[in-house]
Amino acid sequence: MTKITAPFIPAEQIDAAQAARELEILSREISRHDRLYHDKDVPEVSDAEYDLLRKRNDELEARFPHLKREDSPANRVGSSPSSGFAKVAHARPMLSLDNAFGPDDVHEFVARVKRFLNLSDEEVTALMAEPKIDGLSASLRYEKGILRQGLTRGDGKVGENITENLKTITDIPKELKGDGWPDILEIRGEVYMAKDDFFALNLHQEQVGKQPFANPRNAAAGSLRQLDSKITASRKLRFFAYGWGEVSAPFGQSQADCLHRVQGWGFVINPLATVCDDAAAAIEHYNKIADLRAKLPYDIDGVVYKVNRLDWQERLGMVARAPRWAIAHKFPAEKACTILKDVDYQVGRTGVITPVARLLPVTVGGVVVSNATLHNADEIARLALKIGDEVIIQRAGDVIPQVVKVAKTTADSQPIIFPVNCPSCQSHLEREEGEVAWRCTGGLICPAQRVERLRHFVSRNAFDIDGLGKKQIAFFFAEGMIESPADIFTLEEKDQQGLTRLKNREGWGELSVSNLWAAINDRRKITMDRFLFALGIHHIGQQNARLLCLNYLTMTNLIAAMEAAQDENSEARAELLNIDGIGPKVAETLIGFFAEPHNKQVLNQLLTEVDVEKFLAPDMNSSPIAGKIVVFTGSLEKLTRQEAKVSAEKLGAKVSGSVSKKTDILIAGPGAGSKLKKATELGIKTLTENEWLALIN
Ligand code: IVH
Repeated sequence: MTKITAPFIPAEQIDAAQAARELEILSREISRHDRLYHDKDVPEVSDAEYDLLRKRNDELEARFPHLKREDSPANRVGSSPSSGFAKVAHARPMLSLDNAFGPDDVHEFVARVKRFLNLSDEEVTALMAEPKIDGLSASLRYEKGILRQGLTRGDGKVGENITENLKTITDIPKELKGDGWPDILEIRGEVYMAKDDFFALNLHQEQVGKQPFANPRNAAAGSLRQLDSKITASRKLRFFAYGWGEVSAPFGQSQADCLHRVQGWGFVINPLATVCDDAAAAIEHYNKIADLRAKLPYDIDGVVYKVNRLDWQERLGMVARAPRWAIAHKFPAEKACTILKDVDYQVGRTGVITPVARLLPVTVGGVVVSNATLHNADEIARLALKIGDEVIIQRAGDVIPQVVKVAKTTADSQPIIFPVNCPSCQSHLEREEGEVAWRCTGGLICPAQRVERLRHFVSRNAFDIDGLGKKQIAFFFAEGMIESPADIFTLEEKDQQGLTRLKNREGWGELSVSNLWAAINDRRKITMDRFLFALGIHHIGQQNARLLCLNYLTMTNLIAAMEAAQDENSEARAELLNIDGIGPKVAETLIGFFAEPHNKQVLNQLLTEVDVEKFLAPDMNSSPIAGKIVVFTGSLEKLTRQEAKVSAEKLGAKVSGSVSKKTDILIAGPGAGSKLKKATELGIKTLTENEWLALIN
């Protein structure tokens, strides 16, 4: 692969022949990066590097207009993964929705709402039911009726300023119609591309030799994230308003009232939005929308139900990042039929062997699928799957496609022979009693496992090092330059001492190398939850990592506690087991991890390179329960156990499953028994559920 590396010869000094060669490479490279970013979601370069390639292309074309190519990236409607949009905090967070996958979940949602609001079974809890549009949400801020700012959702707390692009959408009024709007009014809704416009755009893309978009959602996303709003304007994007963020004054008493007013101010409201009196009526409306789905001019992926009364919405509030007053009832997965061509075996970071079906490519719900997970050997047996079979596959949302069943087997179909040795290191595979997964026994010597562990270490929710993706890790590993996580942090130093400097290697250049050093150095300070997650300890995902942080606050505490906990009768062991959510199996793995000499060595090396911050729970400062150990017992009436737990943890408390002398507060509902008795004996503060809610509110 030829790669352009900076520093470039200044555009004023380059000659025409060199420029032509470079323009050709730039065109190829930029479109390759577009594909990696948009279609495959595996960018190889940082946004800044990408922008630099585009800038270089523009400079050369400006100097030699006659050399501008037919397939110039400048004409290309493809899109730039630009970091050029300013980040802006949302005045009110943009929430996501919990999902319901069937009627039972919807009934449970309504029952939960009633429980929370303390309503009788007979009381009508009207719901607004409306299609869930498959697009991207945006927040539009109007000040005195004028559109001042438009943001993407981003991570829900901070979005990107795409005002100019949003202004090109005809469904979005630049100035509100009518009157009576609050001075500050943030309208929220979904930007989407209609199916017809999507097909027309893809036809055009193909005619001009461009990569088509996989589905209307991707096309809408690509169009909205254009740095040049003229390109956005040339794509037909639309907008449905479905809610609001910050408002300087209330403007209605129900979801339906408010949306009608929003419609009066010039917005488009989905015509299928309807108020339903109860769960059964909402489900009936869902069925109606599901029947209409194929004929609708835009893609939808479910139906959203929202408690209609705003005073109730207010009381229900939110849990984690979703409101308690709304839920998305998702449509079932989309299915398709294709042929199983072969099975490959992947080795994960813990040695688990995952069989992967290689399929004859087929389109499922607008996306071309050529691989599907087969999970494990038992699943292959359960499906009675053979190579050459016609199979039904399904895809739901962003999850990996799955093989559901065999539609037809043929006389020529071949049995699938699960390997007995690791495809990477040839070590034998074994499976523990009661487990379904076969694992490679190669451990530290298995290259595939080592690479996967390193990949996990730098992954998005772990160290998240820009420019150090899967491909680069595989490269450094193959070259013997990174073998253990700490090697990442000594890479620059070693490179300086090496004979062949990285910047002179194929595929690397001065700029990409210096960006990499900067990205690595940027991560020399890291939050404790990311650090723990990055270690890739079996069972320690993001949630358990956070639990450990809440409990131990610093790595030093944690390491000391895990060492002490090796003694089965120690207080440290009891304390670990006392953390609600950490069971004996997880505790065993953790203690084992910190006792293993090799892990200790890796950890010590790492800790000399990086500085792990002390954990600070969100809302800690203003929280009346920060650092307190609380226990819930008896039946709670307003909160589910999970809700109670999450809300306590968010305020910095630790939730424990049992009462001990360390417990600070016991929240006891009706039916509380031995825990209440023990707490009373120990003189621990005891609250009712209502007292607890008053305290945390
Ligand atoms: S309401 C507080 N209504 O779904 C409620 N969301 O999973 C926030 N979406 O990010 C959303 N159609 O992008 C709502 N009619 C609708 C929607 C809708 C599509 C999207 C939206 C949101 C995501 C949440």
